[in-house]
Amino acid sequence: MKMKKRIGILTSGGDCPGLNAAIRGVARAAYEMFDCEIVGIHDGYRGLIEGDYTEMKRSQFSGILTLGGTILGTSRTPFRDMRKIGDDNVDKVAAMIKTYKELKLDCLVTLGGNGTHKTANLLSQEGLNVIGLPKTIDNDIYGTDFTFGFHTANDIATEVIDRIHSTAASHGRCMVIEIMGNKAGWLTLYSGVAGGADVILIPEIPYNIEKVAEVVKRRAESNKGFTIIAVAEGAMDKEEAKMKKKDREARRASEHFSSSAYVAQLLREQVGVEARNVVPGHIQRGGTPSAYDRVLSTEFGVHAAQLIRDRVFGVTVALKGNEITHNRLSEVAGVAKPVPPNHQMVQTAKNIGICFGD
Ligand code: F6P
Repeated sequence: MKMKKRIGILTSGGDCPGLNAAIRGVARAAYEMFDCEIVGIHDGYRGLIEGDYTEMKRSQFSGILTLGGTILGTSRTPFRDMRKIGDDNVDKVAAMIKTYKELKLDCLVTLGGNGTHKTANLLSQEGLNVIGLPKTIDNDIYGTDFTFGFHTANDIATEVIDRIHSTAASHGRCMVIEIMGNKAGWLTLYSGVAGGADVILIPEIPYNIEKVAEVVKRRAESNKGFTIIAVAEGAMDKEEAKMKKKDREARRASEHFSSSAYVAQLLREQVGVEARNVVPGHIQRGGTPSAYDRVLSTEFGVHAAQLIRDRVFGVTVALKGNEITHNRLSEVAGVAKPVPPNHQMVQTAKNIGICFGD
């Protein structure tokens, strides 16, 4: 019987706070529970395809709990056309399987979002032992209440809104803050509620700019005089929502589209107020994880190590209520988790008078 387990770890897709805390959680629990060697694969699946990796030392998992980003590097390779053999003539799936076998891995732990989970599921179906960990500031992975990274990004986005709030009030301006999230509005919804926004615009609820203009006008004429609008990167008005996805994406790419600049411009034209937009961008994904995310990442990492010990593969770790559990990769891969338009948090926001432009 083979005693020593060889574990490969990679981080893939957009980075987020908590990745290093999760890597540390997996490693520390694995070292505690069984004899193991850990291989760090560089830049996500790119490293697995190209055989780019490091045999990790135990000391490399020390001192990284609070560190932002990922010590392993990340990339968005190779989600699109994964099965297609490109100009380089590389069969990516075959290359990943080859590296896994050459490294004599017992298991591969993949930390990532929706794209990462799709590839993880594919590798699992090809017979590799894979365990996923759900990370993303977008919180849009099916089957888990929260992903790690989300709460930190929410804290940062909320602080941005708070800081904009005071200057908006001083100048009586309409400030439109663009929150990350192209397909899912969770971050905009939570930070909008936490930051006391007057209007929240998310991709899942197409807006009518006239409805937003009414709020801005009413507030401009009241003794408040200012308006705070939290708009998701991927929010769209009702006209845009009717467009085919391909046409919408082409339009946004050709115009270097910014949802906040667009909304601010429409409000200047329609209401005549001084409307400015702010794009905090990758600040929302950078830096040290919050205490909540450090704990969640550690819990997820430890659960992954327990699954390795128990030889439970083809799954991804999840939070359901207060319980750390796991779902089949096949049930999660390719399934998104958008904000349901009738979600309780949307209702809560509406109940305190926040406008969604619908
Ligand atoms: O998935 C996380 C995320 O930050 C999204 O909110 C955002 O739309 C996207 O990544 C940006 O990706 P990139 O950093 O590759 O531009």
